Amino acid sequence: MFLAMTEKKSLLKGAKVLVTAGPTREYIDPVRFLSNPSTGQMGYALAQAARLAGAKVTLISGPTDLTVPKGLTCIDVVSAAEMYRETTQAAKTADYIFMTAAVADYRPLRKLNQKMKKQADDLTLRLTRTRDILATLGKRKTAEQLLIGFAAETKAVLVNARSKLERKNLDMIVANHVRPGNAFGTSTNEVTVLYSDGTKKPLPRMTKERLAQKLMALAADYCSR
Ligand code: CTP
Repeated sequence: MFLAMTEKKSLLKGAKVLVTAGPTREYIDPVRFLSNPSTGQMGYALAQAARLAGAKVTLISGPTDLTVPKGLTCIDVVSAAEMYRETTQAAKTADYIFMTAAVADYRPLRKLNQKMKKQADDLTLRLTRTRDILATLGKRKTAEQLLIGFAAETKAVLVNARSKLERKNLDMIVANHVRPGNAFGTSTNEVTVLYSDGTKKPLPRMTKERLAQKLMALAADYCSR
């Protein structure tokens, strides 16, 4: 028992782990924003698992209701642009990068300084693309870095996830089927891990805490191959 605990603690000893978590908010005006239902639970569980495995952890978090686990550095951000800035900076020295954040793909072209007043029955909002943080890190990845993405999909889950892994130059991707009882806002998750060597590993349903420990072990294992 003692040996097992020691082994677990030393799994990532000395490694630097970066985790992004939660949603981003793209403000339309001072009181309204575009966002998504991500709670940040998976990312916070990964950050905690990495810390317990002996790593030095930086968590970059969008707005969530969660308490930051003790013993790690947390950088709070709101928008995709802020998350891009902080994550690309922190990634420079990271060994393992887990990108669980549900980053907005679009933001309003302009943020109004004053609250928008209703006028006509129809309203058209002009949006513009945000920068893809994960794809940027994929281009900059060093041979020593392990880059892990997350794909939340509603259909063709494995095909879409594999395509993302290839397009974004990832080492691993965690494919998540978004349906009632899975992915957003639930305490358990059932995922399949896809690897850059073409293999895959389906995992049974488990709590996000248990899944975080499992993913940490799979990442350390893939790294040492
Ligand atoms: N991601 C990111 N920056 C973005 C958008 C997404 O870093 N601006 C990361 C997420 O953290 C996640 C992965 O990319 O790890 C999945 O992103 P997703 O938006 O689903 O992938 P896309 O390539 O944008 O595919 P699509 O919009 O076609 O589903």
